[in-house]
Order: sequence, then structure tokens, then C-alpha cells
Amino acid sequence: MFLSRTLVTGRSITFECLFWFVIYSIRVTISVVKGNITTVTADAIVNAANASLAGRVGVDGAIHRAGGPAIMEACDRIRNTTGRCATGSAVLTIAGKLPARYVIHAVGPVWKGGTGGEAELLAGAYRSSVALVQKQRLTSVTFPNISTGVYGFPKLPAADIAIRTAKAWLLQDPYLRIIFVCFYDENYEVYKERLA
Ligand code: APR
Repeated sequence: MFLSRTLVTGRSITFECLFWFVIYSIRVTISVVKGNITTVTADAIVNAANASLAGRVGVDGAIHRAGGPAIMEACDRIRNTTGRCATGSAVLTIAGKLPARYVIHAVGPVWKGGTGGEAELLAGAYRSSVALVQKQRLTSVTFPNISTGVYGFPKLPAADIAIRTAKAWLLQDPYLRIIFVCFYDENYEVYKERLA
């Protein structure tokens, strides 16, 4: 099919090359690593936050502990000026001592059995985060597995939503590097298999 099209017009060649370039870019710019997100260098680190931007456990606690009090001070300012961060959205702060320029605090949904729009809210948390990455013109971002801990979102559908949303952005911005950082084997294996 490729050969026949390339023989027809030069335009087909350009289109075909562009198509494979985008597919190749997606393969190399979404990756998964296992470990602690606070140790992985990127322009922005995404936090699985809560609406009051005041979490102290899970990945939220780890990010605030490693980044130092400046991050919570920035969260306090946001809370005091614009209020809570709605589920499915995200806000940006400085990153303190973390190996990043910014922390993006994304609020995923609490799992309620799947009938409360949780899937769309989770996709919204990822989409809002990348919108901030693009607004700041950043080129790399690390994500934890939002909502799959304390908030109880089932891991397999959560991974599918995260990867599907990431692939959709990369069609618009193939230079963005998205790194999923999985703390536990279970999530790591799912992402590895889905991204293979
Ligand atoms: N690095 C990467 N991933 C981590 C880390 C870490 N240091 N610590 C935990 N995780 C993983 C968990 O294994 C889980 O898969 O992050 C994922 C999200 O889990 P939670 O941190 O519990 O986040 P979430 O389910 O979105 O619940 C949010 O928990 O931490 C509080 O303030 C937060 O109230 C909010 C709620």
C-alpha cells in the first residue's frame, strides 16, 4: 500500500513520512519507570493532590516532604486567593527542592463504583496538567498513577485513561516527554505491558 501510494504523488510520501514520524515520536516520548517520583528529573512533577491542596500522605506527602515547605506555602496562597482546586483540574506551584521547575497539583476523583463520572474526571486531571505544561512551554513531565492509591480508582482502567490521554496530547505536541512513575510493581507491569 505504501509503495503504491508513494508512486502516485509526492504528497503521499510527505503524508506517509509525517504519519510514521508521529507514531515513532509517541513511542519514544511516553515512558514508564518504577520508583519514587520525587527523584525523577523533569520540567514538571505532577502531584496526586486533593481539592484543598493540603494532603500529607501518599505521593502528595512525599512531594511536600522532599520539596520542602515552600510548596505548601504556594498551595496556601492559591487556596486563599482562588479557593479549592476542583476535581478533574490542576494548579501549578514552584517545586522547592525537587528536581523540577514546577509541581502541578492535579486532583483526581475518589472512586465511587464508576457511576459518578470518575473516568472523565480522571482524564480531566491528566488533561489539565498537560494544559499547564503547554502553557509554561515545558518539555517534560512526570506523572504518578493519579487516584489509584487512597482514592481507590481501579488500576487497569486508570492506566488506560492515563495512556490514552497522553497519546492524544502527543498527536498535538510530539516533542513533549511524558514519564509515568509507578511506585508499585502492579502499576509498573500494567504500564509496561500497555506501552510495549
Ligand atoms: N512516587 C510515585 N508514586 C507514588 C509515591 C511516590 N513517592 N507514593 C505513592 N505513590 C503512588 C501510589 O502507589 C498510587 O499508585 O501514587 C499513586 C496515587 O496514590 P495516592 O498518593 O494515594 O493518591 P490518590 O489515590 O490520587 O489519592 C489522593 O491521597 O495523598 C492523598 O492528599 C492526597 O487526599 C489526596 C489523596
